[in-house]
Amino acid sequence: MPTTPAATFDEVQVAVADVEGWMTPGQARRLWTCARTVSAGGTIVEIGSFRGRSMIVLASAAGPGVELVAIDPHAGNDRGPQEFEGFQDQAATDLGVFRANLSAAGVADRVRHIRKFSGEALGDVASDIDLLYIDGAHRFGPALDDIRRWSAKIGPGGDLLIHDCFSSIGVTGALAMSLFFGSEFRYLGRSESMTHYRREPLGPGQRVRNAARQAAQLPWFARNVVIKALILAKLGRLTRAFGHDPATWPH
Ligand SMILES: C[S@@+](CC[C@H](N)C(=O)[O-])C[C@H]1O[C@@H](n2cnc3c(N)ncnc32)[C@H](O)[C@@H]1O
Repeated sequence: MPTTPAATFDEVQVAVADVEGWMTPGQARRLWTCARTVSAGGTIVEIGSFRGRSMIVLASAAGPGVELVAIDPHAGNDRGPQEFEGFQDQAATDLGVFRANLSAAGVADRVRHIRKFSGEALGDVASDIDLLYIDGAHRFGPALDDIRRWSAKIGPGGDLLIHDCFSSIGVTGALAMSLFFGSEFRYLGRSESMTHYRREPLGPGQRVRNAARQAAQLPWFARNVVIKALILAKLGRLTRAFGHDPATWPH
């Protein structure tokens, strides 16, 4: 395992190959590319770090002088797919593995871990954030809270990435109540379920186009909801009809 951070995207893929998590290679590429654009003195914040898979990518990509903040209470809630409550023992293990994984990837010294729920950590991170990655609780209420309160801390031109969009019902509902019709974040696209927004003021016509571009992702959302329902009904083999691997959850 490396003791210095990965210097290239190929190297970081090797570094996270055995780190448990749900980030796909395309999503890792987007994290890497966005983190590379943050200048010295800038700040990257991740909400929901689990065992460090995505934070290793962000921290390896970030240049010297960029602050990296990982917010995760490791409290046993909203741990992963269908793991909403009661996973305290596993979360204690996750915390130890998170620290060990960051050390093995050579980035432990670069990352400030705030062991709090995101809603309690707003005062621990100064504005303006340059890159915010939201991958914490995926239920509607906390997801909406993260999008509204934390995106307000992103500076002009800053990037917002959100995992499990058009995949999780809670996160997608939160998007519909916040960014779909908002005037401050332009939708740039997505890597599977990871959406990418940039903080820019939008005029009335731009808001309509922005909403339409996001609404155009809803058929893909419907596909993912059907796939999840089939997996939960133990009919995963039928998901092959959608080009899906039944051994995986859509991300
Ligand atoms: C889907 S995992 C994150 C995966 C991680 N980004 C990766 O790529 O490996 C969700 C994480 O969010 C954390 N979490 C749950 N509620 C949270 C909250 N309110 N604030 C911050 N993190 C939270 C959980 O402890 C869990 O580790």
